[in-house]
Amino acid sequence: MRSWIKTKDGSLSLYVEELDETYHSRHGAVTESKHVFIESGLAQFPTSGQLNLLEVGFGTGTNCMLTIEQTLQRNIHYQALEPHPLTSDEWEEVAKSGLPLLDKSFLKSISECASSLQVSENFLLTIHRETLQDVVLEANHFDLVYYDAFGPRAQPEMWTVDCFQKLYKAMRQGGVLVTYCAKGQVRRDMQSCGFKVERLPGPPGKREMIRAIK
Ligand SMILES: C[S@@+](CC[C@H](N)C(=O)[O-])C[C@H]1O[C@@H](n2cnc3c(N)ncnc32)[C@H](O)[C@@H]1O
Repeated sequence: MRSWIKTKDGSLSLYVEELDETYHSRHGAVTESKHVFIESGLAQFPTSGQLNLLEVGFGTGTNCMLTIEQTLQRNIHYQALEPHPLTSDEWEEVAKSGLPLLDKSFLKSISECASSLQVSENFLLTIHRETLQDVVLEANHFDLVYYDAFGPRAQPEMWTVDCFQKLYKAMRQGGVLVTYCAKGQVRRDMQSCGFKVERLPGPPGKREMIRAIK
């Protein structure tokens, strides 16, 4: 069962009872998304040109909407994996959260998105209703990966060498993966796949996060 919680910066997140896990940091959902994915990931790329982005765990679309805000002159193809999409009632709640760009028609399109949705002239969104384990990803394709799976305690199957190898193959040379997790074992497993792993200061409540470069 999923229920809404208000995080410390006032933004909403979901709590999953069976996993005893939240979709975002309790210290601030939007604060965490901005710090880990936007500032430590997206902001590292030029503001023009083509960017192929993969998000693992689309959830409430928070990372996606914050990315749309930053699109500027970039052409972004934003592909996301989400095997357990929000219900239409949950999307209604998201619509009340006050995030920019969250108008009802956009949310309706997201929740019904079966394949690709042209959000704006230069932002294409594709949501795959598949797991990371099952999806087939194009090789050497992605410039940037937002790795926003549930944490290793709640979902250890998302933090395996097999998962990181799959992402490594799908990323182009020089591509960047960012995640809020900085566990030593995760870092070592990423390194064993060929990633160069950096530890960066984490968002509020977390000492460090990971940026991994192919
Ligand atoms: C931490 S939440 C993501 C939060 C999301 N980025 C947001 O802004 O709301 C983790 C997400 O991973 C999804 N997920 C669970 N198992 C998965 C799998 N095997 N492959 C890909 N995504 C998975 C969950 O349904 C959930 O939406």
